Amino acid sequence: MRPAALALLLVASALAPAPTPSFGAATLHAQPPAASGRSTRTAFRAADPRAERFIDSVLTRLTLEEKIGQLTQYRGQSSATGPQTPEAGAADIRAGRVGSFLGTFGAQVTRDMQRVAVEQSRAKIPLLFAHDVIHGFRTIFPVSIGEAASWDPAGVERAARIAAAEAAAHGLHWTFAPMVDIARDPRWGRIVEGAGEDPYLGATMAAARVFGFQGTSLRDTLTILATAKHFVGYGAAEGGRDYNVADIPPRTLREIYLPPFHAAANAGARSVMAAFNEIDGVPMHAHRELIDGVLRSQWGWDGILVSDWTGVMELMPHGVGADSGTAARLAIDAGVDVDMVSNFYMSHLFAEVRARRVPVAVIDSAVRRVLRAKYELGLFEDPYRYSSVAREKAVTLAPAFVTEAREAARRAIVLLKNDASTLPLRKDLGSIAVIGPLADDARSALGSWSAAGRPEDAVTPLAGLRQAAGSRTRILYARGASVDTADTSGFAEAVRLTREADAVVLVIGEHQDMSAESRNRASIDLPGVQLQLVQAVHAAARAANKPVVAVLMNGRPLAVPWLGDNVPAIVEAWYLGVQTGNALADVLFGDYNPGGKLPASFPRTVGQVPVYYNHKNTGRPSNERERYTSKYIDVPWTPQWPFGHGLSYTTFTYGPVRPSVTEVRPTESLTVSVDVTNSGSRDGDEVVQLYLRDDAASVTRPVRMLKGFRRVTLRAGERQTVSFKLRPQDLAFYDVRMRHVVEPGSFTIWVGGSSAASQSAQFRVVGNTTEIPDRGPLPPDWRP
Ligand code: NOJ
Repeated sequence: MRPAALALLLVASALAPAPTPSFGAATLHAQPPAASGRSTRTAFRAADPRAERFIDSVLTRLTLEEKIGQLTQYRGQSSATGPQTPEAGAADIRAGRVGSFLGTFGAQVTRDMQRVAVEQSRAKIPLLFAHDVIHGFRTIFPVSIGEAASWDPAGVERAARIAAAEAAAHGLHWTFAPMVDIARDPRWGRIVEGAGEDPYLGATMAAARVFGFQGTSLRDTLTILATAKHFVGYGAAEGGRDYNVADIPPRTLREIYLPPFHAAANAGARSVMAAFNEIDGVPMHAHRELIDGVLRSQWGWDGILVSDWTGVMELMPHGVGADSGTAARLAIDAGVDVDMVSNFYMSHLFAEVRARRVPVAVIDSAVRRVLRAKYELGLFEDPYRYSSVAREKAVTLAPAFVTEAREAARRAIVLLKNDASTLPLRKDLGSIAVIGPLADDARSALGSWSAAGRPEDAVTPLAGLRQAAGSRTRILYARGASVDTADTSGFAEAVRLTREADAVVLVIGEHQDMSAESRNRASIDLPGVQLQLVQAVHAAARAANKPVVAVLMNGRPLAVPWLGDNVPAIVEAWYLGVQTGNALADVLFGDYNPGGKLPASFPRTVGQVPVYYNHKNTGRPSNERERYTSKYIDVPWTPQWPFGHGLSYTTFTYGPVRPSVTEVRPTESLTVSVDVTNSGSRDGDEVVQLYLRDDAASVTRPVRMLKGFRRVTLRAGERQTVSFKLRPQDLAFYDVRMRHVVEPGSFTIWVGGSSAASQSAQFRVVGNTTEIPDRGPLPPDWRP
């Protein structure tokens, strides 16, 4: 087939809508195996007898050392994210000492290495190639927190499908994504990689990304294995300091931190990565109770549990492994199948087995899971099927992918503030001053973890605005300052351009390497002298009554109270990927009406952290007018912008919240409906959000919990009825005995455009307290 035709075919197939996901109780039983080309969309599969027979036959012919080789992952070309560790060469592959590589990709190089494995090694087992494909491979999409801000799981799924298609063509089989860690602390640098603070939104995004990466069959060479990480509690690192201990009470673990993993497992994620943190004295790489107990036994998940970078070795500094042999034993015993780069399995498991401290059956189970993945990917039939030079050329940065990236970027933008309709900007302005250190920073546009992304592929805000501005509008540009130095020498030029221009767009925030692994901050203010730059520009603009717009680029919630009080229009633009500038220009000029919503609360100051919407009421609920209540004397207790907040160029009004019934039994469902009207004069998107509160229960419950949402597009004046189903699972919680129950009593529901929604109604659960199995988050009902 000619490359152009092949490209079209592949792109169309990568973008084709995926079938509706099958979730929930009805599908918790046997599913056809992926190897026969059918759905991967559930973790709960009956064994495929053909596959298992084949895997048995492979297992019986492997030596113990070759088995341990299957559990050993070496680093390839990628940069290290921890201690430097040994690299493997052809001799190691030939000797059967390597099961997978991290960070090696490219059709030709993976073919060459695969050839050594399948033609020159004794056991001839194909290699797996893995990489961190987080928000795009070469066509970079918005960083994950930005994708979550779209509240559009179908779009997020499409982005992951495109990432998978590109990565797979470059020889990759396995991504270390999605990161599904709940993060309530914006100091933590990795909040950028997840879906924010909420378990329901997080679970929905987790499932969407798994569906996207894995498609409906792993045999499809446009799909790759997904990895839900980091299991579990990594986002709760104390002080927001990466790798630190996580102090999580059991109920919070079950209700806040585990659900996105459960959703990913339900969605069929073939792999899960252990977290660096400990919980209550037990490092996650040795946490048998959670890995073997909860994930495998309770949830029935049967994929590969991979360690994080040197996670097995780190059991020693954690202080639970006195020596390296013990560390290896603790990890394999807990259920960690693959040792990422520490080489402890290869160095020690042989001796541990020989000394009968590790049963060979434990090794076999782990190897079986690795072989099963290789089988499901079709690698035993054709080990080169992923590494295709032709496909690599055809799909990389395909125009349809770039178009989708622009769509995704537009949907991720959140309009935080827009006083006096400052935005959109008129297209016939004489000149616009674009000011700020991020205005022309192509690397930052991509964000951290940008796989094979290249700055030269990215459209910066400045380039996007230049291209979109009308022919009569001059775009003036001054950097003004750098992101994080004290140099103010560029201020004068910035102020001069402000005086010359008709409007000012400031592009400020953090550069991409300020919010990433190990990039934690003790302050979440605008870094460097950027606030002073904003103040200088704002003063000059205000004197001449010129509109000022602040565009924030950042991977975490920032505390920007001065901007909140003084700058009339503020746009949250995260790091939007290759189409950053075009998407931003679409929004700033009004060619696209923004509809994103915050996936995490924006505090007023770091001193409020943690601040999250689904908090407890306390015995003395916060009240600014009452002294002896839970609040501060120096700042309001509320965030600057709450979870779920985001404005539009139009307005939406909500009718009354209508539960289908006023009473349900604990095992029954109900429907909640509301009429939403676009009451403004422009078409636009609204994310309709449903929150629930159990008004009184045997344990305290959050003041409200997200239990449903839908992003709808309404024409000016249009009204739509939006309905949500509330199922027993949505009403249940873990009681004092850690039983998952629905209790009788009253519940309040709110529906609106943010977590501060005020339109409410009530219903009652009648009958007796009823235990219901925790099947994990319910079907994301984003498809009609
Ligand atoms: C360490 C990170 O914690 C993890 O998320 C990533 O997948 C690995 N490094 C591999 O790069």
